[in-house]
Amino acid sequence: MEIRRIGVVGLGAMGAGIAQLGIEAGYAVVGREISADLGERARERIAHFLERKVEKDQLAAEEREDALARLTLTTDLSALADCDLVIEAIVEDLGAKLELFRELERIVRPEAILATNTSALSVTEIAAATSTPERVVGMHFFNPAPLMPLVEIVRAELSAEEAVETAYGVAERMGKRPIRCHDTPGFVVNRILIPLLNDCIRALDEARVTPEVLDTAMTAGAGWPMGPCTLVDLVGIDVHVHASEALYEKLREPRMAPPPRIVAMRNAGLLGRKSGRGFYRYD
Ligand code: CAA
Repeated sequence: MEIRRIGVVGLGAMGAGIAQLGIEAGYAVVGREISADLGERARERIAHFLERKVEKDQLAAEEREDALARLTLTTDLSALADCDLVIEAIVEDLGAKLELFRELERIVRPEAILATNTSALSVTEIAAATSTPERVVGMHFFNPAPLMPLVEIVRAELSAEEAVETAYGVAERMGKRPIRCHDTPGFVVNRILIPLLNDCIRALDEARVTPEVLDTAMTAGAGWPMGPCTLVDLVGIDVHVHASEALYEKLREPRMAPPPRIVAMRNAGLLGRKSGRGFYRYD
């Protein structure tokens, strides 16, 4: 199936990154946010990163302008009616996603594909909100989406082969390295990364080291590109706690449960980079 127009619902850090990838790959992208202000903020973020590419000679100025011209913003979900693929990147709340998919099913054409960027919820459960679960797949991008090559293309229980292959093709055209996997808790990466990051956070107290020291240990000793505390701050403390809880609920493995230290941070509003403070402070 040929994809020309992509809808992205939710233009936070992940959604804006996905929209950026879409326009850079030549797709027309309709980005939907709940307020015009939030939409504009996403456009500015995308324009900024494309400008940096121009400054670094990775993109021609004309290509940047063309890409930005392919982005349309809306607050109205019905503006996604003509999309061939809609990628949902809203808050990780099952109820909100179910409601959105129910609405999307009413709005977009029956042959359009509906994808979720969920990192820890069940794609099958989200698909069950619709009467056409065969067109629902997972397209799980990694943070920061424009920089991380992987996209997990998640096959839910009832996903049609064509929907999976079309989503895989879109990820490839975005310059990504997609993999296909089944809809199991955490898919491939988070099944492994979430308990590992939780171990790292527990090691802070067990080994009595600071976040700086732990980050040095894992970058200098294990070759990680960024330390675990920097990474959790980037992903968002709230996102990490939610993913841990969702996996713990499904798998009941103690290492999946979020350590109390990070739950307390979430409750105190220390959400990482986005709130200006997490393990570290940000200006
Ligand atoms: N969006 C778009 N462009 C961005 C960006 C963003 N969020 N952040 C940076 N860039 C652009 C910038 O223009 C930047 O250049 P300038 O600083 O010159 O402006 C350019 O990309 C390069 O950025 P960096 O110099 O910071 O790149 P780096 O070489 O240091 O690598 C990294 C950055 C790729 C993030 C690397 O540190 C890395 O691989 N970190 C690990 C990240 C990781 O593990 N992510 C997975 C998280 S888990 C997850 O996402 C799963 C989940 O479900 C929650």
